[in-house]
Amino acid sequence: MKKYRCLYCLKVSRFKPNQDVLTCQNCGKSFRLLENEIPVFITDKENKDNFYGAMFAEQAMEYDSKFDIDSAHGEWVLKRLLELEPKISTYAGKTILEIGAGSGLLTRSLAPNQLFKYRKLYVSDISAEMLLINWHQRSLVEQQNQVEYMVMNVLNMPFADASIDMVIGFDILHHVFNYPMGLKEIARILKSNGVCVLKEPYREAYLMYSFLAKILLRMNFLSSNEQKKLQDWQHYFFTLINHEDKGNHHELANYDDKYFFTKELLTQHALSSGFSKLSECNVLERKRSPDLPQENLYKDMIVCFFKELGLSEKSLEVVTELGNDLDATVGEQFLRDYPVNTLFLLWKSKPALYRFF
Ligand SMILES: C[S@@+](CC[C@H](N)C(=O)[O-])C[C@H]1O[C@@H](n2cnc3c(N)ncnc32)[C@H](O)[C@@H]1O
Ligand SMILES: [Zn+2]
Repeated sequence: MKKYRCLYCLKVSRFKPNQDVLTCQNCGKSFRLLENEIPVFITDKENKDNFYGAMFAEQAMEYDSKFDIDSAHGEWVLKRLLELEPKISTYAGKTILEIGAGSGLLTRSLAPNQLFKYRKLYVSDISAEMLLINWHQRSLVEQQNQVEYMVMNVLNMPFADASIDMVIGFDILHHVFNYPMGLKEIARILKSNGVCVLKEPYREAYLMYSFLAKILLRMNFLSSNEQKKLQDWQHYFFTLINHEDKGNHHELANYDDKYFFTKELLTQHALSSGFSKLSECNVLERKRSPDLPQENLYKDMIVCFFKELGLSEKSLEVVTELGNDLDATVGEQFLRDYPVNTLFLLWKSKPALYRFF
């Protein structure tokens, strides 16, 4: 019988599987099992006002193609993490929890237990629809490894205090409207020397995109429909950061992307949530395959971004030209100064004093 922290009685209890439910042996409350093995650790109350998962439930089927991304991206970022932050390799062979795993971009690189070794891996998401896509792609090797899939909300997790060594999540925290509470919950389940690794969009990079959008709007080649799309995006972007800066988290509940973090902002919340330090690695990567050549990085980034915003092929040719010019002059510097995909590393323990003695 497996042990979890029950979301009703809050005790770490044994859970007994019985057909399509898992029952807490302490309080008798049950949680649904999907496919006879994936527990849905969401309470009745959370289910009632579950606006967190709803958007991703709708997007699930088209998510991977819509965002034009594949698991090569997850692998690239994981490799960059290991390369940029050697301390991360000390978490090998431990208990790892992936949050907001979605359709499996990172899971496919983690679960085979090769790039990064684990003793036990939990793969989780709030959306059953997203997680099932992920689960269906699991390999036989993964099934033999210690991988467990579960539906859960990062704001309320079925783990005991100080029970996880490393939490990792790509592109999740900026969707969680009360993420400071999420950070507290992550700090709660992490061991005292635990670490949380998050890849999130970075505000500075999007400020640069907004600046480029302004230039494109001035150039007068966009159709009125395209102009509107750019203006709408700019409006949305500045509305979000305005709410964030004023701390109006509830205003953000209805948006899909809710935040564009800065290091300062996240540090401030991390420090008041039980973490002692935040560090950052710029993954300097492209959105799609890492096998693409390493030049023209900035051009690829902005073409990808404006394509997502819905510009026509013809307009994208102008963006491509602009991108080529930027790459030839300041592109690499832009990527360094305005990282799009930044890994935030939240360390729980303070570095030991006198550790050299
Ligand atoms: C942008 S997707 C990223 C998925 C995957 N990590 C990737 O890199 O492709 C964000 C994921 O976070 C999940 N999510 C959003 N809010 C959450 C919450 N409160 N708790 C757990 N997962 C959440 C969504 O269901 C979605 O699958
Ligand atoms: Zn219970």
